[in-house]
Amino acid sequence: MIITVTNQKGGVAKSTTVAALLAALTQRGYKALALDLDPQCNLSLITKANIKGGTMLSVLGEEQKAADVIQHTSFGDVIASHAGLAGADIWLKDIGKEYKLKEAIEPLQSKYDYIIIDTPPALGILTVNAMVAADYVVIPSQADILSMQGITSLTESIKGIKKYCNPNLKIAGILLTRYNARNILTANITEMLREQAQSMGTILFKNTIREGIAVKESQINQVPLFEHAPKANPTIDYENFVDELLDIVGKGE
Ligand SMILES: Nc1ncnc2c1ncn2[C@@H]1O[C@H](COP(=O)(O)OP(=O)(O)OP(=O)(O)O)[C@@H](O)[C@H]1O
Ligand SMILES: [Mg+2]
Repeated sequence: MIITVTNQKGGVAKSTTVAALLAALTQRGYKALALDLDPQCNLSLITKANIKGGTMLSVLGEEQKAADVIQHTSFGDVIASHAGLAGADIWLKDIGKEYKLKEAIEPLQSKYDYIIIDTPPALGILTVNAMVAADYVVIPSQADILSMQGITSLTESIKGIKKYCNPNLKIAGILLTRYNARNILTANITEMLREQAQSMGTILFKNTIREGIAVKESQINQVPLFEHAPKANPTIDYENFVDELLDIVGKGE
């Protein structure tokens, strides 16, 4: 099962969500692997994965096999990213370029219950590869109007991917992140996002992830959120979200 976490809008908690998913799934006894496809390498930093050895760059450049660059972190297994991925839109240009990632991770599918992919804030070739390889997409979003706008163009890309490359791709749902119920606009935008999700044939997840200082603290300390602050709001929210997500995508197949 491959789940891509994506939204071309920056700073909507994609990497935070991938790290939380990886740690929660691993803690529950699943074999889980996260791929950092973002040249910013944020997920690699959060999980303390080494970006100097074999990375997604060597995998997509067909210099190394994915199985040979897996790192074991306290969150679970990770393949790190590399700044050189920033040029992927230029060097990934052969016929079949949209399928490079799918092909590279095919041999890992039987070894993992879940492979979670973190994407850069762009709808370029890396994000396309991540959606072509995936069974499901999770779309994190903040409750603001600019995030809503971004989801509209993302929906168009997903339609294109389904039509030309991956007819089985499904949108698991939109996840509201960095949620602050005290913000007076939040309720309105939440309702609008729910309608937007419906028009895309998906849902707004019931669980939202509240804003909490524990997220940044755990990232600075490079430890999983549930280990750093098991009782913090975002920790509880991510645990509940994982339950909800597993009900949608299925458990362990
Ligand atoms: N629930 C939360 N509470 C507080 N801060 C959060 C929360 N979720 C994410 N953040 C913070 O928001 C910032 C953006 O999060 P993150 O890096 O996960 O977003 P992103 O979508 O991956 O960004 P990019 O588009 O740059 O890859 C980070 O500083 C992170 O620590
Ligand atoms: Mg990120």
